Amino acid sequence: MSGIYSMFNRFPSLETSRFILREVSMGDCEDIFDIYCDEEAVRFQGINAIESMEHARKSVNFFRSGFEDKKFVKWCIVKKEDNMVIGIITLHEINIWHLRAEIGYMLNRKYWRQNVMSEVGERILKYAFNEVGFNRIEAYIHPENIASIRLSEKLGFQKEGLKKKSDINFRTNEFEDRVIMGILNDSAKY
Ligand SMILES: CC(C)(COP(=O)(O)OP(=O)(O)OC[C@H]1O[C@@H](n2cnc3c(N)ncnc32)[C@H](O)[C@@H]1OP(=O)(O)O)[C@@H](O)C(=O)NCCC(=O)NCCS
Repeated sequence: MSGIYSMFNRFPSLETSRFILREVSMGDCEDIFDIYCDEEAVRFQGINAIESMEHARKSVNFFRSGFEDKKFVKWCIVKKEDNMVIGIITLHEINIWHLRAEIGYMLNRKYWRQNVMSEVGERILKYAFNEVGFNRIEAYIHPENIASIRLSEKLGFQKEGLKKKSDINFRTNEFEDRVIMGILNDSAKY
């Protein structure tokens, strides 16, 4: 078995020039609310925007339980200048046998197009490939989510295909296609 599980020994806090990437805590509930209460931000996730602080607290509990249960790692993106949490980046669907995982990201709309996820995504991919030892990271993206497709391309992912009717949209109850984006450890980018 691989050493992938070692990333669950202690929460792997990381850093970039502008941001700290750390585990989310109950003290972050208001910032988490601000990120996920925005209909436009959750539009391509097939989920409803959160509507209450109670819902934000449940989300934070869920985010933390994923690490405890060794299922996924969700880092919150903290601005160094004022400690505000402005987004979340995740490695999930972790497959310890085949050394692969899925990446997901969500940013407070006030910070879109300021190179936040390019900076943070690069750090997470370096961590995944060079410090943990994943062979492959994938992203499954709604075909109309141009921002996410472009971001993944900028990070070095390549379009590999289309998964038809792959994910249910919990708002509409319809199944939706997902573009398959992938990047390999030997891509020489990281
Ligand atoms: C997708 C998302 C994380 C992008 O984060 P971001 O920090 O704004 O992205 P960046 O500023 O690093 O931009 C990276 C590249 O993506 C492209 N891009 C980003 N936003 C774009 C937009 N709205 N339209 C077109 N291209 C866009 C640009 O090519 C950009 O590179 P460039 O500025 O050097 O040309 C952000 O839009 C978001 O949180 N969206 C809602 C949640 C979501 O859809 N998550 C993905 C689910 S699969």
